[in-house]
Amino acid sequence: MLNVDCISKTYNKQAIFSNLSFSVHPGEIIGLVGENGAGKSTLLQLLATLQSPTTGGIQLYDWYYKQHRKLVRRHIGFVPQEIAIWDNFTVRENMIFFEKLAWKKKSEKELKQLCLDMNLDRWDEKVHTLSGGMKRKLNLAISLIHDPDLILLDEPTVGIDLKSKKEIAAYLKKLAQEKEKMILYTSHDMDEINELCTRVICIGKDPFYKNLLQHAGKKIISF
Ligand SMILES: Nc1ncnc2c1ncn2[C@@H]1O[C@H](COP(=O)(O)OP(=O)(O)O)[C@@H](O)[C@H]1O
Ligand SMILES: [Mg+2]
Repeated sequence: MLNVDCISKTYNKQAIFSNLSFSVHPGEIIGLVGENGAGKSTLLQLLATLQSPTTGGIQLYDWYYKQHRKLVRRHIGFVPQEIAIWDNFTVRENMIFFEKLAWKKKSEKELKQLCLDMNLDRWDEKVHTLSGGMKRKLNLAISLIHDPDLILLDEPTVGIDLKSKKEIAAYLKKLAQEKEKMILYTSHDMDEINELCTRVICIGKDPFYKNLLQHAGKKIISF
């Protein structure tokens, strides 16, 4: 379980968010919504150990982030907002490269299967020839090489074709349901959020998203 206890983040004396508490249970998909600049990416970076909260604490299972940063990291898969893969490498070469950096070992067969599981079947093709949706899938596959329990995704389905979007959504659902993963992801697609998420964190000052969610009868964790 992930426990977020009363965290705040301040940049240059300006609070991005404050006193945020929530927990995520195995098998849950939590949506994170809010206007641009609301602090969604910042929150994901805190949960990914890439930044520290100004106040408050975060805990994954029994491990406090402050004391066990390295250990916690082993159990997190993070997909940043910007796609971060090697354009001139094939899908295979990318997977093998990132497997070498991962702390858990995977065979080439397992790596290929990970891609196939989300319908990414361009194993020997160079990344620059792939569609945006395929690149997103590869980025996601890379983040899952070490079998993380907590998966953090920053706009994984933005600007991609509908088919890839649906395939990624279906795959995330499967990961949560069958493998008991904890998933947190940001999106501006409220249909997708409504379909996938059990609960939604709504941040920022604009009531727009909150109103939409309330209308859809979603459980909101807001602040
Ligand atoms: N490293 C940083 N230093 C100072 N301000 C930052 C930094 N990163 C983000 N911000 C500011 O924090 C706010 C939230 O940004 P961000 O988390 O990227 O929002 P979102 O992902 O919801 O669009 C923005 O006003 C942004 O300019
Ligand atoms: Mg962002």
